[in-house]
Order: sequence, then C-alpha cells, then structure tokens
Amino acid sequence: MNTFDTIASRRSIRKFLDKPLSDEITRRILNAAILAPSGKNRQPWYFIVIKEDKREQMVKAMRAGIEKHKARGEKIGSSENSTRIMEQAPVTIFVFNPYEDNHKKRSTSGLMNVVDVQSVGAAIQNMHLAAQDLGIGALWICDVFYAYDELCDWLGQKKQMIAAVSFGYPDEQPGARPRKSLDEVTLWL
Ligand SMILES: Cc1cc2nc3c(=O)[nH]c(=O)nc-3n(C[C@H](O)[C@H](O)[C@H](O)COP(=O)(O)O)c2cc1C
Repeated sequence: MNTFDTIASRRSIRKFLDKPLSDEITRRILNAAILAPSGKNRQPWYFIVIKEDKREQMVKAMRAGIEKHKARGEKIGSSENSTRIMEQAPVTIFVFNPYEDNHKKRSTSGLMNVVDVQSVGAAIQNMHLAAQDLGIGALWICDVFYAYDELCDWLGQKKQMIAAVSFGYPDEQPGARPRKSLDEVTLWL
C-alpha cells in the first residue's frame, strides 16, 4: 500500500477476531514505532507488550481503576467499552515515557515533556500505519487513564504512561469517521 492509501484507509478498530497475533507481526509494528522522529532524537518511548496470557490481569487492573472513579461518583466516559475491547484484543501495547516520572510527581522537565509526548505520538501513529499495512486493526486507548495508578502498579512502572494500543485481526470494517474540513482547520497567510 502506498503511504497515502494506508493513511486514508486506517480506522480505529473496536472488534477483533479471536485469533492470536504472531510475535513477528508485533515486532514489525514495534520496529515501525522506533523509526519515528523524536525531539533531539531522545526516542522517549518504552513499550510493554501484553499478550493473551496476561490479558485477564490487565482487564482486572482497568476495572479496579474504573470502579474507583464510579465509587467517587465521577464520570467514566468510554472506559468500560475500551476495557471490553482490550479484553478481546490479542495484543495490547502500553507506551511509557522513560524520561518522566509518573503523574503523581511534579514534572521536572516542563516543556521538554510536551516535546517528548509529541515524539511518542509519532511512534504510536507509526504503529497504527504499520498495522494497517499488515492487515492488522488497532485502537489507540487513552481510557487507560481511568486506571492510571492501577495499571502502572500492575506493570511495575514508575514512569509516565502515555497510552495503550490494542491490536488484532479486525472483525469489522467501519467507514470513515467524520473529519472537519480542511478549510475549517487551515489558515493560509
Ligand atoms: C490520543 C487518542 C486517544 C484515544 N483514546 C481512545 C479510547 O480510549 N477509546 C476508544 O475507543 N478510542 C480512542 N481513540 C480513538 C478515537 O476515538 C478515533 O481515532 C477517532 O474517533 C477517529 O476515528 P478513526 O480513528 O477511525 O479515524 C483515541 C484516539 C487518540 C488519537
């Protein structure tokens, strides 16, 4: 697929077939991630791959976090739906920024963190495009923030969690989601 076709045909996939993903495919997706550009070439990413054998524990941590929000009467957004998707996906990759302590502590690096988070975003997008090229569906998940502490504790991570991405063979072919028009979001001076 050429790059424009890959970009245009990618969709967030929220239904996966009950079919494992080979480690080779997962590695190819991760290799695409680490080719992303990064501010000062800091490569501020660290990936933790969760496969089916650890999925139940991951979902347990997610649900524990969500329950805490519920008990406090707080909104839980789409987190329960995202959890169900993570429960289905054969692979979920958590992405951390190894330069930044987790959100419980004050940021020491200020704007550099903004740069690092952009770099991690590029890596995550590369994973999505690589997956699309390989016929693998992906879902970018920030609902993991509803269980930030629970997931970091379970994963034994003290660094900044940025997102998770679930991968699997797609069991749906959604149409393109709406986009603002180019005119709406562009100013040519
Ligand atoms: C930073 C980020 C966080 C996201 N978090 C979630 C999420 O937690 N759960 C979910 O179902 N989708 C999540 N998405 C997917 C978006 O809902 C999706 O990209 C958007 O609706 C556009 O649809 P498309 O990806 O099919 O073009 C996230 C996407 C991004 C970029």
